[in-house]
Amino acid sequence: MKTIAICPGSYDPVTSGHKDIFIRAANLYDKVIVAVTENPRKKSYFPIDVRVKLLEKVVEPYQNIDVCHFDGLLVNFARKNKAKVIVKGLRAASDFENEFQMAQVNHKLAPEIETVFLVTKTDYAFLSSSAVKEVLQFDGCIENLIPLEIKDNLIKYYNQYKKDK
Ligand code: PNS
Repeated sequence: MKTIAICPGSYDPVTSGHKDIFIRAANLYDKVIVAVTENPRKKSYFPIDVRVKLLEKVVEPYQNIDVCHFDGLLVNFARKNKAKVIVKGLRAASDFENEFQMAQVNHKLAPEIETVFLVTKTDYAFLSSSAVKEVLQFDGCIENLIPLEIKDNLIKYYNQYKKDK
C-alpha cells in the first residue's frame, strides 16, 4: 500500500528550508501533499492563492509532490486524503514546544496518523518565513533564503501587497 504524507504549514512564504523538507519527505514516502492553511496564531501577509502558486512552482519538478489548500483541522484533511503521516521540520529547541503540543493534539484527535519530525539542515536552521518578510521589507537580498525559481514572483507579489497593507 502506498504511504501518503502531508507537509502542513502556513508557508507565508515558502523558504529554502521548507523546500528541503518537501524533497526529503518525497524520498521517504510514496506521495507528499504540501498542505497550506492559515495559522490562526499568526498574522499572514500573502493571500493563500499566492502562497499556493509559489509552492506549485517550487514542487513542479517533483512528480510525487502535490500542493493543496485546506481549511479546518489538519487531521480531517489528512483522513480525507488517506494520509498516514504528518511531516514537520524541526529547526531548534524553540520550535519544539509548539510542535510537540500540535503533535500531541493531532494524536489525540487521530491516533492512526503519526507525526514525523525531520531535523532541518544546519544551512537552514536560522531560516523562517518571518525572516524572509523582514529582509524583503528592508530591500535585502533574499537569494539564499528562498528557492531561486520563485524569487522574481515573490518580489513582485511582495510589492503588490505592500500597497494594500
Ligand atoms: O507553518 P506553520 O504556521 O507553523 O503551520 C502551522 C499549521 C498550519 C500546521 C497549524 O496551525 C495547523 O495544523 N493548523 C490547522 C488547524 C489544526 O489542525 N489545529 C490542531 C493542532 S493544535
